[in-house]
Amino acid sequence: MVCRRNQSLKEEFDVTTNETDPIPLAGLDDYMERGIKEIISERPEIEAILEDYDIGCGPCTVGQCLLKDIMEVHAIPPEEELEMIRRIHQVIDPDSPFKANKIRKKKSTQKVVIFSPPMQKLVDEHKFIKRLVAHIPHIITSMDLGTEEGRQRVLDGIDFIRNYADRYHHAKEEDLLFKYFDEDLDIIQAMYEDHKNARNHVKNIVMGIETRNWDNVITNLSAYQELLTDHIRKEDDILYPWMDRSITTAQVGTLFSAFNEVDQRFGDAPTRYEKFVNELERDYQSNEE
Ligand SMILES: [Fe+2]
Ligand SMILES: [Fe+2]
Repeated sequence: MVCRRNQSLKEEFDVTTNETDPIPLAGLDDYMERGIKEIISERPEIEAILEDYDIGCGPCTVGQCLLKDIMEVHAIPPEEELEMIRRIHQVIDPDSPFKANKIRKKKSTQKVVIFSPPMQKLVDEHKFIKRLVAHIPHIITSMDLGTEEGRQRVLDGIDFIRNYADRYHHAKEEDLLFKYFDEDLDIIQAMYEDHKNARNHVKNIVMGIETRNWDNVITNLSAYQELLTDHIRKEDDILYPWMDRSITTAQVGTLFSAFNEVDQRFGDAPTRYEKFVNELERDYQSNEE
């Protein structure tokens, strides 16, 4: 059930402009088909250009996105993308002219992202996860790991992370959503890697509590917060919008039904965990007052 589109950049965009010639990608064509890491190691200036458009490929540790995939996944506005391509072209092939007077038009570009119902479900679950994660610094500064009650408080947060963020939410992504795509794609591999690292941090937090290694607890709580904040931002801003643009209406329907089945399997547990976040916020709020 891999998604219907695995289009190249040329298919995705209407490259003809002013009813005349296509934008000349000659010189760039070879680069479009190459891995971005390889391109950056060959032409380091390109990393800085991509960063100007909030495309952070340099620090990514997973695999090799092709340059054309990066263009498609990030879906930056057409004018900005044209400028970015022009700058990359300038680095790759400074001696050949780039006809920047021609405007590349995307077939569909939405400024405001309206998610499909299943994707919106995941975004809504992120909101609860983000609220819990945002409280991690408060949890760290106020936790009393020397008492049974204090330790239990942290373990209650871990219970939310394991059951709501991981088993309920991440499982929907890994077992259902990602299966609609080529899971070897770099961006999906990066998401798997994040999930795996998040699970390791959780394991280390629990181990730290069991072995009374408080430094380990604090280090891994902070690392989890940093990782999940960035992970959710990538999913909300980049991955989900791209996935929504890529799946068919029929696939959206199937996915929504599958998510509903997961919800039924979990019964009232998600609602209880969402209530847990509300109570946690109330507690910390009243402690501050
Ligand atoms: Fe995820
Ligand atoms: Fe997620």
